[in-house]
Amino acid sequence: MTATKSDIAKAAEVLRAGGLVALPTETVYGLGANAEDPAAVARIFAVKGRPPSHPLIVHLGSADHLDDWVEAVPAAARLLAKHFWPGPLTLVLRRGPRVPMEVTGGLETVAVRVPDHPVARALLTEFGGGAAAPSANRFGSVSPTTADHVRAELGDAVDFVLDGGPCEVGVESTIVDATGEVPAILRPGGVTREDIEAVLGHAVEVHGSSAVRVPGQHPSHYAPRARVVLVGPERVVAEAERARERGHRVGVLLPVSCAAPAGAHAVVPVPDALPVYARGLYGYLRELDEQGCDLIVASLPAEEGLGLAIANRLRRAAGPRSER
Ligand code: TXA
Ligand code: MG
Repeated sequence: MTATKSDIAKAAEVLRAGGLVALPTETVYGLGANAEDPAAVARIFAVKGRPPSHPLIVHLGSADHLDDWVEAVPAAARLLAKHFWPGPLTLVLRRGPRVPMEVTGGLETVAVRVPDHPVARALLTEFGGGAAAPSANRFGSVSPTTADHVRAELGDAVDFVLDGGPCEVGVESTIVDATGEVPAILRPGGVTREDIEAVLGHAVEVHGSSAVRVPGQHPSHYAPRARVVLVGPERVVAEAERARERGHRVGVLLPVSCAAPAGAHAVVPVPDALPVYARGLYGYLRELDEQGCDLIVASLPAEEGLGLAIANRLRRAAGPRSER
């Protein structure tokens, strides 16, 4: 059920009192705390089991508040904010004095975004401040795209869960390092590289494995319990059959053009339309886990448009687990 006005008032009260609120955004659900309350921010890290050096995104109710939180905003960053906020874009900018070090993991920059979800915006407007919020999942696992995912994974560790229905975009925001005159993409997401390039009028770099600058980007992140194996679309069926012969309970993310492999334990058909695929992706991975699969075979979409973000998450889900 979607959050009511009184739910939103209550959630704002919880934030003011130093509590944790799970909030819907258009990308994934976030685990929010008052960004200016270091003790509340510390609770986010404890609940997620996330190392304190991994910085959080500060969520604002309006782009008008940007200058209260950051300094020295380059023209390109203003342009991106103007075009894509509210929306699935996060800008990394120089930290203003209002941002505690607990939020930035000691960095001199801070990530900010204005989410495009009516419940998130109502909460942030009512609260008045900024909400530091990572995705509302345990460190390294798959991000939640429904309130039920949050309840199942974090349960009583969260003081209040605002239900805003299933997330529209389904993968996290695009993170852009906008500290310099030439922005660069640190994490592909809901706003495409092509959209960003069209607004800026030039090509932008996509930084691959900037594990030091973006600590949330360890190779194995966004991972289900089952191991994930990526192959070309023409190899999905053969790989699934091979894994079954080795005794695996195989889950398959199956391109609609392929016939289902014999003996797969569970099959999720993957839609051709990238926005639909992105919206469903984390739900599919959760579903295959729930069905008891221990290995998931999938193929990567072409890395264009939203396909870049989907492929990025699949690669990380398939990354070496020791580095999680
Ligand atoms: O769509 C989203 O971005 C969701 C929703 C809840 O807004 N949030 C999200 O937060 O994905 P999280 O914490 O799961 O991922 C935030 C990413 C991490 O990879 C973190 O390292 C990076 O943002 N980040 C935060 N501050 C940064 C900074 N100052 N410089 C570079 N990267 C930063
Ligand atoms: Mg996350």
